[in-house]
Amino acid sequence: METYDALLTRRSIRKYLKDPVPPDLINKIMMAPIWAPSGSNTQPWRFYVASGKKRDELIQAMIHASGPEAPSMDAYDQLVERVDQIRAAMTENNTAEVGIRRTSEEGAKFIRYGSIRFYQAPVVIIVATPKQMGGSSHQSIGAAVQNILLAAHAEGLATCWLGMPMAFKDKIIQVLNIPDDVELVTTISLGYPDKNSAINKLIMPRLPFEEIVTYRS
Ligand SMILES: Cc1cc2nc3c(=O)[nH]c(=O)nc-3n(C[C@H](O)[C@H](O)[C@H](O)COP(=O)(O)O)c2cc1C
Repeated sequence: METYDALLTRRSIRKYLKDPVPPDLINKIMMAPIWAPSGSNTQPWRFYVASGKKRDELIQAMIHASGPEAPSMDAYDQLVERVDQIRAAMTENNTAEVGIRRTSEEGAKFIRYGSIRFYQAPVVIIVATPKQMGGSSHQSIGAAVQNILLAAHAEGLATCWLGMPMAFKDKIIQVLNIPDDVELVTTISLGYPDKNSAINKLIMPRLPFEEIVTYRS
């Protein structure tokens, strides 16, 4: 895929097929962050990739930690179907508006519960940084994460950058046995997109070019 095609057509994907991602392909995608730029070439990123039983265990632990009001898997699947319609309609009517409009409680629930389930993607990537690096590493990590998103997209896979699971850092550390010399920063879901789901056709609007770019000469 050509670079501009990749960066203009990548989208956050929130419904995945159950198909597993071949390990060789995961490896290929995980080469992409290695070549991201970083401050003083510190390469302050570490990745923990969960799939199979560990991914199942992680999702179960997150649901459990999110409290008794978390909907069951069946109830969540039904929610996805309703939110597909709500959100598709919202985008058509509000293309000029930026951000996820949480006008409906169902929309908010979908994002909240979907995020802590990594939208049920077959692969979950946990992004961490060595504790000694401190907060200054986060700019470099952003570049590394974007490399993963674009590499996955170029391979016909889909992702969603997910900050919400950070509310349950302890669970992630415990289930994936993450060493205590790293700090968790963010997470990414990875898998094959369900191309029939309306939620995946969502194109979030962008600010006008003139508002974000100013030339001086
Ligand atoms: C730092 C960061 C955290 C995010 N966290 C979440 C999240 O927890 N749940 C979610 O559904 N999307 C999350 N997103 C995805 C954004 O909602 C999405 O990128 C934005 O709406 C633009 O849509 P697009 O990625 O399809 O272009 C996050 C994105 C970033 C960069």
